[in-house]
Amino acid sequence: MQRLSSWETPAHRLPRKKVGEAEVVTEFYEPGPYELYHVPDPDGEEHALYEAVERLPITVLKVGGKTVMVDDPPHWWMMKKHAEYYSGRVLVAGLGLGLILHALDAEEHVEDIVVVERSQDVVDLVLPSLDELDTPIEVVVMDWHDFPDVTEARERDFDGVFFDLFVGDGPSLVGMAMREMIWMTERFPEAKTRRIHGMNNDFLEALSRGLGRMF
Ligand SMILES: C[S@@+](CC[C@H](N)C(=O)[O-])C[C@H]1O[C@@H](n2cnc3c(N)ncnc32)[C@H](O)[C@@H]1O
Repeated sequence: MQRLSSWETPAHRLPRKKVGEAEVVTEFYEPGPYELYHVPDPDGEEHALYEAVERLPITVLKVGGKTVMVDDPPHWWMMKKHAEYYSGRVLVAGLGLGLILHALDAEEHVEDIVVVERSQDVVDLVLPSLDELDTPIEVVVMDWHDFPDVTEARERDFDGVFFDLFVGDGPSLVGMAMREMIWMTERFPEAKTRRIHGMNNDFLEALSRGLGRMF
């Protein structure tokens, strides 16, 4: 099991402040065991739990007072794992703390990134911290499901799509994820990679292909 006595991610460099409805704050995980959900750790090992040996500082993004993203070990390590699957031109749903963009930037075959984020306040708060990245990033402020119409999607020709808009977990998300995967498969048929954070993506992709044939 990973035992952590300190914790830092690229999100630690974000200013702790509030912009409109969006706010970045620091919260602390007290020493003890925490869920890792079998996300691969930096040694490539997968465990159900990790242990905070000391109090760990965690960066939290709130929108309208509700937590929408944290940079704790399972989130940051999973963003790095997701990023390994991508190359070329990548479309990202949800800016959040920008962790996925740092992770994609570290992948040598990722060429450019388009992010769709509905909150202008989140963009104003988080985007300046992405100046340091080498990969060109375009941010589109709108609701994910309004972006783009089918014609525009074809013109934009994305190699990969990454979706991370769900907050929370539980069985009800599986149905939503299925619908989302089918929607993404229809909207971005040329994409080689489509992934939804928090889900078993091999299973979703196979199931959505099967359902696509049935209906
Ligand atoms: C879980 S966070 C994304 C975390 C991100 N993957 C990261 O690495 O930091 C979800 C983000 O999606 C945004 N969001 C939620 N619903 C949305 C929608 N329908 N369209 C566009 N953005 C949305 C939220 O404002 C939030 O910034």
